[in-house]
Amino acid sequence: MVRTAEWVRQAVMGRCQRVAKLICQHLPDGRCKAVEVGCYRGAVSEEVLRQHKQVQYTMVDPWMKPERDSEYLRTGGYTAIHMLHDAEGRYQEAMDCTDFAKDRRTVMRMTSLEAASKFNDCDFDLVYLDGLHTYQDVLNDLIAWYPKIASGGVLGGHDYFHASHKFMEVQPAVDKFAKEHGLEVERGRINTWFIRLPENKDAETGQGLGIVSPDSQWYPPPDNQEGRVLQQAPPPA
Ligand SMILES: C[S@@+](CC[C@H](N)C(=O)[O-])C[C@H]1O[C@@H](n2cnc3c(N)ncnc32)[C@H](O)[C@@H]1O
Repeated sequence: MVRTAEWVRQAVMGRCQRVAKLICQHLPDGRCKAVEVGCYRGAVSEEVLRQHKQVQYTMVDPWMKPERDSEYLRTGGYTAIHMLHDAEGRYQEAMDCTDFAKDRRTVMRMTSLEAASKFNDCDFDLVYLDGLHTYQDVLNDLIAWYPKIASGGVLGGHDYFHASHKFMEVQPAVDKFAKEHGLEVERGRINTWFIRLPENKDAETGQGLGIVSPDSQWYPPPDNQEGRVLQQAPPPA
């Protein structure tokens, strides 16, 4: 089958619409606050803003050209390569397609951890993680953003597991984090994952998660870290 640019565009749009639908299903119906970490062209952000008319949506992404020898280029797939070529263009696209909901959108052009540090605990109903995908980066995001979610809220993300992207390390980090905190991971469609927090999260888990540091011995690398062959991102054309 010959895949035209239009076919690919439609397929990507369809995927983003379905991901957005899953995110919206995990949000309360009325006024609520969500953050997407790693927004790329803003396609999922746009769809969430279209599908949920009362969400205040924070978009976090540095929209920055990655270093040539960076982990992000190794693990980030085609989005990292596109960023290498035209990060400013991706930023503009993300702004243009969400401009219709300017009043409900907050843009934070910075890294995930920088952005997380600017919020108070329990500020969000939902945090959706789709930024850096190495084991340690996912763990850092989980640790940084978990406290920012209100009790009964939702933590989620993308690329939980993908057979054709064996270099992605999301699943072991999410599973480990969930297990350590007695939380259940719901594996969603289209490679998403979601964790519903208890109504009284600190009381039920017995932990204020801000105290757990990424290099704590609670978080050794996953068993398959050693001796693993990592797939390299193809060199940019
Ligand atoms: C997989 S893409 C996001 C796709 C987007 N959620 C969607 O479905 O349309 C990953 C994004 O993470 C961003 N990113 C890279 N480093 C980051 C960091 N330190 N913090 C947050 N986002 C980062 C990249 O710029 C890229 O846009």
